[in-house]
Formats: sequence, C-alpha cells, structure tokens
Amino acid sequence: MPTIPNKYLVTSALPYANGALHLGHFAGAYLPGDIYVRFLRSMGKDVVWVCGSDEHGASITIRAKKEGIEPQQIIDKYHELNKDSFEKLGMSFDIYHRTSAKLHHETAQEFFLHMQEKGGEFEVKESEQYYDEEFDQFLADRYIKGTCPKCSHDAAYGDQCENCGSDLSPTELINPVSTLSEKTPSLRKTKHWFFKLDKHSDWLKDFISKGTIDGKQHHDPKKWKKHVTGQCLSWLDDLRPRAITRDLSWGIPVPLPEAEGKVFYVWFDAPIGYISATKQWAKDNGKDWESYWKNEDSQLVHFIGKDNIVFHCIVFPAMLKAHGDYNLPVNVPANQFLNFEGEKFSKSRNWGIEIHQYLEDFASFENKEDALRYALIRNMPENKDSDFKWDEFVEFHDNELVNNLGNFINRVVVLTNKYYEGVVPESDQKEAQVITDVKEVMAQYENDILDFSFRSAVLKVMEISSLGNTYLQDVSPWSIYKTEPDSQEVKNCLYNCLQIVGILASVVEPFLPFSAKKINNILQREEMPLADVIAKISAQEAVLPTGHKIGEPQLLFAKINDTKDTSRMDLIKREKGKLLEIIEQSKPKQEAIKDTISFDDFTKMDIRTAKILTAKKVEKADKLLELTVDLGIEKRTVVSGIAKHYKPEELIGKEVLLLANLAPRKIRGVESKGMILMAENEQGELCLVSPNKPFGTGWVVR
Ligand code: 2FM
Ligand code: ZN
Repeated sequence: MPTIPNKYLVTSALPYANGALHLGHFAGAYLPGDIYVRFLRSMGKDVVWVCGSDEHGASITIRAKKEGIEPQQIIDKYHELNKDSFEKLGMSFDIYHRTSAKLHHETAQEFFLHMQEKGGEFEVKESEQYYDEEFDQFLADRYIKGTCPKCSHDAAYGDQCENCGSDLSPTELINPVSTLSEKTPSLRKTKHWFFKLDKHSDWLKDFISKGTIDGKQHHDPKKWKKHVTGQCLSWLDDLRPRAITRDLSWGIPVPLPEAEGKVFYVWFDAPIGYISATKQWAKDNGKDWESYWKNEDSQLVHFIGKDNIVFHCIVFPAMLKAHGDYNLPVNVPANQFLNFEGEKFSKSRNWGIEIHQYLEDFASFENKEDALRYALIRNMPENKDSDFKWDEFVEFHDNELVNNLGNFINRVVVLTNKYYEGVVPESDQKEAQVITDVKEVMAQYENDILDFSFRSAVLKVMEISSLGNTYLQDVSPWSIYKTEPDSQEVKNCLYNCLQIVGILASVVEPFLPFSAKKINNILQREEMPLADVIAKISAQEAVLPTGHKIGEPQLLFAKINDTKDTSRMDLIKREKGKLLEIIEQSKPKQEAIKDTISFDDFTKMDIRTAKILTAKKVEKADKLLELTVDLGIEKRTVVSGIAKHYKPEELIGKEVLLLANLAPRKIRGVESKGMILMAENEQGELCLVSPNKPFGTGWVVR
C-alpha cells in the first residue's frame, strides 16, 4: 500500500445560492468529496472538508430580480435549501459556511490588502466596459450574453461560456446583449484592478506539467486527471491580467479609498471562502486553521466540476502563491458533467430533478439516500460526461444493491440467527481462501479511492459482496446443516461470511453511509474504521469475533421491480411520466390535416411561379405590403400580409408561388389579384415558399 499522508484540507466548490442543487451538481463536486473524506477519516487521517454558499456576483442579483425579491432574501432562501439537501443526502462537511459572513468579508479584504502591500500583483487600468443605458449600470459577467467566440454557443456569459468552459471577457462576445434590457449595450470608461496573472505563467507551467514549485517536487502530475491537465495547458499559453473588481453594489467592497463603489469580482472572493470557512470551523472547534492551509505536510484537494477548472488550477493557485504562506492544491480531481436522460439539466425546461424534489418524491422509498448515491456513483462523470437514466437507477438498485449486497448480508444474518441464535460461531481455519481474495480486492479498492476512481472503487465493494455470495453458494451450508447441524464446515462458512459482512460495513461507508449504519446496527456493533479493519485482517484477526451476538435481519433495500408491491416502480414511472410530458409540451403544435379533396379540386387552383418586382407599405396598415408581381404573361398587384416578416426591400427580385385564379379582392382600397403562398409556424411567423432554383415566371405548379 502507498503511504497515505496524514493531514488534509479538502474543499468542494461553493455553489451559488441562487437556485436549488440538482443531481448533476451533486455527482460533480459533492458526492466525490464526501466519498474521499469519509474514506480518509476512516483511515484515521486528520481531514477538514469545507464548503458553503457562494453568495456574491451577478448570478445572485439576477435571480433576485427574476423572483422580484432582494438579493439577501435569495441567498437566505437557497443557502438553507441547499444546506438541508446536502445534510439529508449525508454530505459530511465539517462546515457549510457562507460568503456573506462578516468573517469572510474580512478575510477576503485582508487577503487583497496583503497582496497589494506586497506589491507588483495588481495594476489599475481604465478601460471601456459595456453599459446598459436604460438600467444605468455597467454590465459585467452574467449581465451580458452573446455568442461564444470559441465554440459559437449562442448563450455565453460575459465571464464564461458554459458550453465549452472558456473563460471570457464581455468584449470578446459576438453580438453582446444586456440581460437587463435585452438591448445592445454601449461602451463607457471605468477603472478596475487587474491581477497580473500573466506574470505567473512560467511557474504555473511547471506546476501543472511537472508538479513542481520553484524546482521542488510538489505533487505527482500523473495523478491528475488528463482532462484537467489538458484544459490547464491549453490555457497557460495565453494568460492575461484579469479584472478582479466590478462596478456593482452587491459584493465585498474593495477596501481602498480610491475604489469607492467597487466590489470584488465574485471569483476573487469565492475561493478565499474556503479559507474563511476553515477559520470559522477552527473557531467553533478550538482548532488551528493555519496548520491545514500552511503546513507543508497538509494536502489541499479541490473537488469541482469541469467548468471551474481554470479558477482552481490556475487563478486561485496564483493568488495563493502571490499572497505567499499558503499551500497549493496537490490535486484538483474535477468531474465532467452529468446529463439527465440524454439531455443537459435545464431549469427553464424543468429537465432534471433537484435534490429536494427527489427527497420529497421518494419520501416513502426505503433507503432513498443511498439508492441515489449509488446510482450517481455508478455513473459518475469522472473522465467524460455521463448520463443519469431512471432505467439504470432501477437496474443498479435491484441487481447490485438488492440482489448482491442486500441479499448476501441478509442470508448470512438469517442463517446465523437460525443456526446459532445470532452468535458468531468459532472457526478452526487459519485463513480461508475467500478472505485472502477479499483482502486483495480491498487493496485495489484503496488504490482506486486514492486515485479518485470512485466508480471503480464502488465496484470493488460489490466484488467483495459477490465473493461472499459465491462462497456461500459453493459451500451451501443449508444442505450440510440438514444432516449435520454441528458441522464445523458450516461454522467455518458462517464465520467467514460474517467477517465479510463486517468488512462490508466499513468499505461501503464512504459510498453508502446510511446503509453502513444499518449494517452495523444489524451486527449490533459500533462502526469499525477502515484502518482497524485493515489492521485486523492483516493480522488475521476477526473483525467480528467469535461469541459476538448480532441482531435480527433488517431490510437494507427493497426491490423496485417487484410484481407484488408496485409502489416503488410507480414512483419511477411517475418520474418518467413527467419527462414524457415535457417532451410532449415541447413538440411543435401542428394543425391536423384537412379533409381529403379530389384531384379535380386540386386542378381548380392555378398556382404559378412569379417574381416580385416592387414592394411598398400600405398606408395605415402595419401588416400589409402592396406588391407588383411578374407572372410572365402579365403583371399583377397583390396585397400581402407579410409586413411584419419581410422588409419591402428584402422582397424585390424574389421568386415566389402565386395562387393566380383567386377571385380579386379590394384590401384597403387596393385591388389584390391573387395570393402569394406562404408557410406559417406555431409562432405565427410567415415564410415565403419559393422554387428552389431560378425557374422563370408564369410556370404552372402541378
Ligand atoms: O460555479 C459555481 O457554482 C461557483 N459558485 C463555484 C465557486 S467555487 C469557489 F471558488 F468558491
Ligand atoms: Zn464556448
């Protein structure tokens, strides 16, 4: 086994307190963090895991405007909601802090002032920034949208494109639009503080590619995920100074007299939130926060989603180094994105499921917390985007949690109660092969977790349970017991199986903490840390000693696909039904096909190719245009209701189709002879129907 360092400061991205968290967030930065820290704690390590709400920035004020309430109300509402969701799903943060806390404001201001006093890190520049004349405010970050210059995504924000993860500045956006007035903004001069990130370029390159800082090995770069290193390297060639201040009223004031009215950019103060959260935790628990952030032997690890890579691997490390004194991350195991039933999570389309919603919908579902954790771990987007599907949720649950893990534990507990009144029997074997096999899988399990390969690690848990199931089946103690109730072979078998159940209780804990509690309860013992389990099995000692009395069997997971009790499957069907409804609603509503007509009816219509020669507005009729069309054998005047869809000059020269034998009609005093054919969509938009190549005028459509 590799030696595992003893001290850790682990962080998970501070979610914006501007909305409810969904499964994608959870699988990205929180569940992996929880698995990692639970494992480390169980290995006896000194770990602090901090998280909290990110409560500044335009994403908060924009949400407040949408909901028609104050930013403070928004952050209070979503801070509580998200904190509660995290708690209910077993996130074992040591603290869930808030960046609106006074301690955080002070910490961020001190951090800035320290950098400022050291000198050489900031420059103050006047530049032109987008301004919304109607709302009388500068437009930074999410106040401005446009097309991404890198991937052409048409809804990129002024600070970042959520499609390709590129970090942007508002002036890079193509066709920028204010999200306040929906209008094209103007440019105005303003002054801002810039962090000279470019001057950190050289050491950052070594840090990312070689894992060294000032020539000294800091971490093993091969342990970083390839997509993380790849994204960082693509960035490092083009580092530029970054504005760290904004002209906004919501945020942390920049503590300089000449910066009146300015606040820090949210991405400057948010990562400092990890430090202030640690300070608050230390204060509450009589600990020393600095040793976690500054001692050389303390390991800093950031859990994030891929959209946050640049801030955690480049910008924040540069801030920490510029400040001095602080450790830099030894790893940033960012996850990619989780999709939902084949599409991106979308709040506006209601596509996806929020955690509080899941907990409400599945209130009656046995062990709903671990059922969800398991489905998300099995499909965690560790190295590429993945997809959550309800059908897979059912498969993972029934095939793996019920049929494998639950079934094994239940069989062992039932047999022990039946044969030995619940008392662990004595074994006369030195070490059974099955235990040797379990030990081997456990070693792989540990390596997987240390490599942040949680999908693989959770499969090792299932493998341990499978080893137990196969062994039990091979020995089949029930057949021996029938004729030989005092058989030593049966005792050995159940002894070994009980050891495996004892081991399982500890190895499942980082992944399925609710189940671990239940298993320990069934076994009638306290939780056994992994470090103790490993020590015992290495010394060939029992994790569940002979003579220990276990409890009665209890249900760990209840099968979903159960023909006798359909209640759980009904819940899944309801969720799938909601999605079908959304799909149905988003389908275009088209008119039913009209009654059948005969060919004769069709031939009565004389439809011809025609060319528009002139076009002008009809006075006092904002929908109408008066057109002259060339029909080959004659020219005609036609009045057409397309003024809202085409400008007159756009129409001249266009080849169209004309119903030529429609009875003439006077419209607003103009005689209209015929009708130009057009298609109309659900939104009432009109589109001319034209021959698909230059075809000449007057030709009959048949
Ligand atoms: O992307 C986000 O949701 C940000 N609020 C993450 C911030 S992480 C950190 F730096 F605080
Ligand atoms: Zn993009």
